Amino acid sequence: MYEKYILPYLLNYTCGQKPFIKQRQKLVPMAKGKVLEVGIGSGLNMPYLNTSNISSLVGIDPSEELIQIAEKRIDNSMPKIDFIISKAEEMKFDDNAFDTVLMTYTICTVEDVAASLMEIKRVLKPDGKLLFCEHGLAPEEKVVEWQNRINKFWPYISGGCNINKNIPQLIEEAGFTIPNMEQMYLPKTPKILGYNYWGTAVK
Ligand SMILES: C[S@@+](CC[C@H](N)C(=O)[O-])C[C@H]1O[C@@H](n2cnc3c(N)ncnc32)[C@H](O)[C@@H]1O
Repeated sequence: MYEKYILPYLLNYTCGQKPFIKQRQKLVPMAKGKVLEVGIGSGLNMPYLNTSNISSLVGIDPSEELIQIAEKRIDNSMPKIDFIISKAEEMKFDDNAFDTVLMTYTICTVEDVAASLMEIKRVLKPDGKLLFCEHGLAPEEKVVEWQNRINKFWPYISGGCNINKNIPQLIEEAGFTIPNMEQMYLPKTPKILGYNYWGTAVK
């Protein structure tokens, strides 16, 4: 009941707040060519895609309810998009299929991060780019202590979101290198939830 009728709208509302939108505006316009968005959710990135640089767009997400919200967001200014209900851990795409994989605020929630990132690596072309923007482990010890405490129950009320993941470490452990990354606390966001890492990863 909560997961189906309340959580999708809560996520859409929370992830649509100004500090998150500002982050989307920095990253999403860089997507180009054949684009895959992993964990497209309610489609909050769609308005920031630079349509003139995109030849095709696929969005995957395991949540039917979130994809339904995303479908309602489509307007004529956006590229045609194929929505597929799927987890990142097992994607039915060919190897080397995409120029860009876009992933925002999704690593926190995927069940098997290593398997998901390996799949992303598989479907990315050799010169493709993973564009990521994620919240995760803060740099301050005191904040991390609170992140670890709160994370004992947080996933149960947030659809599986973990607030203490070491984002760059996870990406690098999957065999990516990260030529560009920035990080900061998002303004007007609790420190335990708002430490952001964003940038580009390559195979
Ligand atoms: C916090 S929401 C973020 C949604 C969207 N990426 C955004 O930026 O607004 C986390 C998303 O990850 C999706 N998700 C959860 N498990 C996943 C998995 N195994 N593979 C792909 N996406 C997953 C959820 O359904 C949800 O849409």
